[in-house]
Amino acid sequence: MNGNFVYNNPTKLYFGEESLGYLAEELKCYGPTVMLSYGGGSIKRNGIYEAVVAQLQAAGKRVVEDAGVMPNPTYEKVMEGCRKVRENDVDLILAVGGGSTIDYAKGVAASAYCEEEPWEKYWVKQGNPTCKTVAVGAVLTMVGTGSEMNGGSVITNRKAGFKLGKVFGPALYPKFAILNPRYTMTVPQYQMVAGFFDIMSHLMEQYFAGKADCTTDYIAEGLMRSLVHSSRIAAKNPQDYEARANIMWTATWALNTLLKCGKGGDWEVHQIGHAIGLVTDATHGMTLASVSLPYYRHVMGDGLHQFVRFARNVWGVRPEGKSDEEVAAEGLACLEAWMREIGVVMHSGELGVTEENLQAVADAVLILPVGYRTLTRDEVVEILRESM
Ligand code: NZQ
Ligand code: ZN
Repeated sequence: MNGNFVYNNPTKLYFGEESLGYLAEELKCYGPTVMLSYGGGSIKRNGIYEAVVAQLQAAGKRVVEDAGVMPNPTYEKVMEGCRKVRENDVDLILAVGGGSTIDYAKGVAASAYCEEEPWEKYWVKQGNPTCKTVAVGAVLTMVGTGSEMNGGSVITNRKAGFKLGKVFGPALYPKFAILNPRYTMTVPQYQMVAGFFDIMSHLMEQYFAGKADCTTDYIAEGLMRSLVHSSRIAAKNPQDYEARANIMWTATWALNTLLKCGKGGDWEVHQIGHAIGLVTDATHGMTLASVSLPYYRHVMGDGLHQFVRFARNVWGVRPEGKSDEEVAAEGLACLEAWMREIGVVMHSGELGVTEENLQAVADAVLILPVGYRTLTRDEVVEILRESM
């Protein structure tokens, strides 16, 4: 292991079919007013809303309704949530939904009492809150982002022309998160497999960095193998509880700060994905799927040892009689075959990237000076063009 790090994850997780029962205990820790934040209404159709409201009522809470958090949540929506928090003196924001709703809740929690312009302070300058913040709790209904146990808050600001992530410190992590795999069973297949790829991408973004022998890589390989196994089952039979439960658990560990210990991380696929999301509003996991193969094939030579390791330890590629380049390329071919098998979007053109908006997408890509290769803008355009 290289480097110095602090590992501190304060989110308390409740996992399993009975997990919502623990909400009552958690609610005792907070004041009388709970803002119930959720998305476009899926929780009203599948009964989760009713179950959560019943718990809030039984606990005697005053509930402030906060509906309409959209996928790829916007800064305008965050500002609207901030006004609601201040007007109602909210004690807890209970986010019921996927990554978008939980990311939004963290953004609101940090921004409601911020005396500066939150977009500039947090998302552009990557500063940390110096004001009072509001507690966030989560009931997860869609698997993929890891937002249930991390400080990430990815917000789209179309006026500013960026979709940016801010990773807040542990004070902004959900205080608790309720993970009931049954709650994810109504997620449409397209969203479900997008989430599967998002998990794989989080694992790869952290894995493809560094040269040292690192325990963290062994953990990541185990999670990747479990994900590949369970996703093959779930893509064919989404109602397979065991597979969905395994994937839910994998998603949480894929991005809850454990896997960055001793690793620098890459995250360029996410930067390109966010730029596509900004311009097309496409589903996050699909934006990543559409650019990952061109990106990894582009940087494979710069981090060859790790791509060889990926091929052997994740996909079981046999190295005998093959060059390192051949082994590494075979690993990426296995990744491609798995992506096709579970049914993710393979081309950014299908998401709305065109020759006309390609430059706008490239302009919105943050180029990070980490990973095995720092891209030039021309390389970003090349990768985007290959991805179409
Ligand atoms: O809005 P509702 O009606 O709830 O419908 C949602 C939404 O349309 C639906 N859905 C969720 N649970 C459902 C369900 N439909 C039926 N049954 C259920 N049980 O699914 C759609 C997508 O939801 P969303 O929350 O947008 O998906 P996801 O969890 O993939 O979140 C994506 C957002 O998270 C950010 C992404 O950039 C994107 O903005 N990310 C957050 C990260 C973090 N916090 O660390 C890291 C990630 O890399 C990612 O960037
Ligand atoms: Zn992601």
